[in-house]
Amino acid sequence: MGISGSGKQPNGSNMRRKRDIIISGFSKLLKEEKLKLVAEYFENPGEVVSLLKSFWHSDASQQKLFDEFSENTISNFYIPYGVVPNVKINGRTYMVPMVIEESSVVAAASSSAKFWSERGGFHSEIISTKKVGQVHFSWTGASLSLFQLMPQIREHLVNSVTHLTKNMEKRGGGILDIELIDMTDQIPTYYQLLVTFETKDSMGANFINSVLEEFGQSLKVFMAEQIQFTDSDRQLEIIMAILSNYTPECIVKTWVECPFSELDTVDEQLDGIAFARKFQTAVRIAQVDVYRATTHNKGIYNGIDAVAIATGNDFRAIEAAGHAYAARSGRYQSLSYVECTDDLFRFVLEVPMAVGTVGGLTSLHPLAKQSLEMLGNPTAPELMMIASTMGLANNFSAVKSLTTKGIQAGHMKMHLFNILNHFKANEQEKKAAIEYFKDQTVSFANVETYIASLRK
Ligand code: MEV
Repeated sequence: MGISGSGKQPNGSNMRRKRDIIISGFSKLLKEEKLKLVAEYFENPGEVVSLLKSFWHSDASQQKLFDEFSENTISNFYIPYGVVPNVKINGRTYMVPMVIEESSVVAAASSSAKFWSERGGFHSEIISTKKVGQVHFSWTGASLSLFQLMPQIREHLVNSVTHLTKNMEKRGGGILDIELIDMTDQIPTYYQLLVTFETKDSMGANFINSVLEEFGQSLKVFMAEQIQFTDSDRQLEIIMAILSNYTPECIVKTWVECPFSELDTVDEQLDGIAFARKFQTAVRIAQVDVYRATTHNKGIYNGIDAVAIATGNDFRAIEAAGHAYAARSGRYQSLSYVECTDDLFRFVLEVPMAVGTVGGLTSLHPLAKQSLEMLGNPTAPELMMIASTMGLANNFSAVKSLTTKGIQAGHMKMHLFNILNHFKANEQEKKAAIEYFKDQTVSFANVETYIASLRK
């Protein structure tokens, strides 16, 4: 290992590592060595090492598993693992695991789940399950001759990856289509192969990327053998081959509905019709205003991400697809919408969602595995329905609060624990504070004053 820019470390507090030093070979150090080196960035290295180690798994073999999920692992970062009972989807009731640090999300999802379980539950259907990948390449020849060659190219490419597709085909998946797209009006000589896949219960990222990379190599070889082309036209350059996280054909639609009269009890000030109208206007605002749309959709992903993380799925991929889908009209909009008929309120969420229930972390991470078991070992489409339901549940709770009593009352009540912990309140103080703040406004300053008064 080398450290550039460093001399001998001086003693005392100056002994702390200079932050502008570039370290090389860090990944090759032993875990203990990494820990020691990281601790040098602090004034109290001994305590830092103890704190980081206190979050290690007590079972060394389990810890090794976590270490190997990533690179340069020195500890684990805890996030609460909660559950939401009473989630009724298409007549079946689930206990849904959610991993999230934001205090009000599980509470919001739970209240929404209970509310809708008494009004027919959530309804969900899969619109489609296709995934997409691309081989981006550069070719100098005439576009027409490439299009004419496509039937042979398709056959050649599909034959070149049978070793990769064999197992997926046994599970009912595989390559669905390979389309040539001429992009030369955007970038000179740029084409792409747009490939669609069915990956069944796996998210399919590794499968798709392996197939695409192999396609790239095979396409290059195939073109080099086309003697009808000039020397330079036989040289096709592969720019890159990668799946797309935009999955507008991997879509789940989830909704709740009830007569207006069943919304009469939502708010003291509004009857069911007035509440539904106000709620609908709030959702419309998220369709016409990008500032509101972003926050509205963030509320949806509070629910979806929490299920994705709990089940070992890639929440960044899921969110990226959702935000791109929200902008598919050319304007970023709400992913949910309200349809009111003469006497029926219907709240709908339509989202793309590439998830897996086999492969990846789903069976490697012990809690992801257990989450899936808690859900009855769902298929990927079933998990799409469950995760989107939690997105809609959170979205409903948020917009309901916003259009009635406001969001802060509930949020700050949930946040009270965080503030109390900040002041290191003991159990007795916590109990007293919870009682006191039942009818008082929770704020950082108010809690500080209250705790100080208790401690006087
Ligand atoms: C907070 O995490 C999410 C909300 O802001 C969502 C929304 O405003 O719809 C409450």
